Amino acid sequence: MTSADRSLPNLLITGTPGTGKSTMAAQLAAQLPDFALIELGELIKAKQLHDGWDAENEAYLWNEDRICDELEEAMSRGGVILDFHGADFFPERWFDLVVVLRANNSVLYERLAARRYPEKKLQENLEAEIMQVVRDEVFDAYQEDIIAEWQSDSLEQLEANIALAARWAREWQGPGTSAPRHAEADGDASAGGAVSAMAQDGAP
Ligand SMILES: Nc1ncnc2c1ncn2[C@@H]1O[C@H](COP(=O)(O)OP(=O)(O)OP(=O)(O)O)[C@@H](O)[C@H]1O
Ligand SMILES: [Mg+2]
Repeated sequence: MTSADRSLPNLLITGTPGTGKSTMAAQLAAQLPDFALIELGELIKAKQLHDGWDAENEAYLWNEDRICDELEEAMSRGGVILDFHGADFFPERWFDLVVVLRANNSVLYERLAARRYPEKKLQENLEAEIMQVVRDEVFDAYQEDIIAEWQSDSLEQLEANIALAARWAREWQGPGTSAPRHAEADGDASAGGAVSAMAQDGAP
């Protein structure tokens, strides 16, 4: 099944731990009753889609094949909001929009410290965000026109990101609908975050 067969789009919300994926995904899902929210970290635990606990990194060693098998049916149906901090092992065809959330250093530090992350894990995550690990993964794995790289430092940004994604999802018209852009990112304040439909040239 290809993305052309879906009547609703699939969204991936990704980013370094603490950037605000679950916060955004839950609020977005609340605005989109036809969409299903999958917090993959929870599903990995519940359905044991892992190869055990990595004590050193304090994380499950997720099993990419089991995850992809588990999600295939739902992704083929469409209307999924997938929340996960990994992005590069899913079939590219699954997603119509990939949101990669970014957070400023000091903001991310505060959030991870508030979770009482051990210092090593905290520093590793901070470093990953500074080195743009997830962001680069996303740009390597997906077409640029379906990627939205959004800052999520403040509640204003959170709200704006949710509004833009919700509008995009409601107005989605099939493959070729490009990612929504914040007006300031386009250098066009009058656009008001308008969703643009990308012209398709039919070329592969
Ligand atoms: N845009 C924002 N402005 C202010 N606070 C935020 C914003 N986004 C998230 N937060 C807060 O930051 C913390 C981390 O957010 P959240 O749990 O959504 O991150 P996450 O990306 O899902 O992390 P993980 O990958 O570990 O699951 C929460 O306390 C949340 O309330
Ligand atoms: Mg989360």
